[in-house]
Amino acid sequence: MQEVDRWQQWRDLERHWQEMAPRHMRDLFGQDPERFPRYTLEAAGLFLDYSKNRITDHTLELLLALAERADLAGWTERMFRGEAINNTEQRAVLHTALRNRSNTPVLVDGKDVMPQVNAVLAQMERFTTAVRTGAWTGFSGRPIRDVVNIGIGGSNLGPLMVTRALGHYQSDSMRLHFVSNVDPTHLAETLKPLDPETTLFIVSSKTFTTQETLSNAHAARAWCLEVLREEAAVARHFVAVSTNAEAVRAFGIDPANMFVFWDWVGGRYSLWSAIGLPIALAVGMERFLELLDGAHAMDRHFREAPPARNMPVLLGLLGIWYHNFAGVRTHAVLPYDQYLQHLPAYLQQADMESNGKRVTRDGGAVSWTTGPVVWGAPGTDGQHAFYQLIHQGTQLITSDFIAAVNSHNELGDQQQKLLSNFLAQTEALMKGRTPEEARLAMEGEGLAAARIEALLPHKVFPGNRPSNSILMERLTPATLGALIALYEHKIFVQGVIWQINSFDQWGVELGKELAGVILEELVDRQCQRPHDASTGGLIDLCRRWRG
Ligand code: F6P
Repeated sequence: MQEVDRWQQWRDLERHWQEMAPRHMRDLFGQDPERFPRYTLEAAGLFLDYSKNRITDHTLELLLALAERADLAGWTERMFRGEAINNTEQRAVLHTALRNRSNTPVLVDGKDVMPQVNAVLAQMERFTTAVRTGAWTGFSGRPIRDVVNIGIGGSNLGPLMVTRALGHYQSDSMRLHFVSNVDPTHLAETLKPLDPETTLFIVSSKTFTTQETLSNAHAARAWCLEVLREEAAVARHFVAVSTNAEAVRAFGIDPANMFVFWDWVGGRYSLWSAIGLPIALAVGMERFLELLDGAHAMDRHFREAPPARNMPVLLGLLGIWYHNFAGVRTHAVLPYDQYLQHLPAYLQQADMESNGKRVTRDGGAVSWTTGPVVWGAPGTDGQHAFYQLIHQGTQLITSDFIAAVNSHNELGDQQQKLLSNFLAQTEALMKGRTPEEARLAMEGEGLAAARIEALLPHKVFPGNRPSNSILMERLTPATLGALIALYEHKIFVQGVIWQINSFDQWGVELGKELAGVILEELVDRQCQRPHDASTGGLIDLCRRWRG
């Protein structure tokens, strides 16, 4: 594998950043009245404006040449066709098959996976209908009122994010709760107001070996049986979603109450599988299928649209432009929609677990940087917290602004106020405020000349801060599905350029192994293992303070 930073296309981009660095977006807009129509794009119900970026047509040409050199089109086809592109785990990567609403065959090892996918969707439909209509009751015959999803990472963040994002589509008769942390407080506080007789637990774990999930599941089982007394109650109050049927059976969950998925679905890409069961219980299967439809529309766009008019390709390449050539290290996700409050946390796992890699697919050390730090919070909360640093801090930070133009909860002019903040922030980040403008504004306020001069440096905004604007008419299951798929593919595009495997996660293993070792020392005081002085000292302190 030839290293990406030795390619001519990479060198061209390095040189090009030197030319672009001093140029201001104000001037780029001033020189080109067609910039907005040229650098905007619509697909799958989403509108992307990428005109507020430090780019020209030449930048895009160079980025697209890099994508071609990396064989992005070839890798995309390999993914969609079910080749084992997750090479370290020797697995296909087929979350796209889960939402393949056209139902065309998708082959893994020569076998079409669509019949299995459709069978699980049908099972989900039967189950969610039964629970939502009250036909499925708890052990004592009462209908289910509360559903607790127990899972972590991809078995939590996706269902949690989507369930909350589709809050408008939920009725009050079914409340969804999510427990992920092994911290006993998470489960205890969640269960406090609940009644075991009317509570259903979904134990969600791809591997069904995850410490946090299994600990919480065992504790939930004990909580349930304390009231319901009989072992047979477990079958009415626990279902499982997993790829590991044996472990599910060993836990005591009836295999009839198990929803399967497959090793070609990565944990952080699994909300489209039965891991999405809490979503379907919350909003109904029809809405869940609309979510899949939206994602499928984005899949088709990604697979079929030419790279220069391809939303995930453009977003991915813009990220590469800043990360690898402008030295940008963090990327903010700023949803101007309260329903999307969990999107930044969801994207943190999707992006950072996928692309936080330091070796290439074939194990060579990368000599370029990979994977930005992804973070964010809903606007306008973020504006009153961290935007100061984006506007006037010393580092360049890129951001995605996301909004639904119409609210599900129109209240006076509040939605207009929200949108005006969205638009004003992206304008301010791009334009900034020159010394002349700042002086004029202060003169307008009637400030004394000396005061104006003292304040001037503080009132100047450099601007030239890049942002993407992603708009949808309304946040619906379909537009949400498209939005999530957009980001999944953006992450894929970047992984291809960086020549890494975006679909494994070996980096989280070491901490898990060491936690197992230390747990034994905390539980058994006779057990003493060699540690560094800091870890050993802290273990001693914990033992002492736990009495
Ligand atoms: O954090 C590591 C990880 O393996 C994630 O990739 C995954 O989403 C999470 O743990 C949970 O794993 P499981 O679904 O197997 O419990």
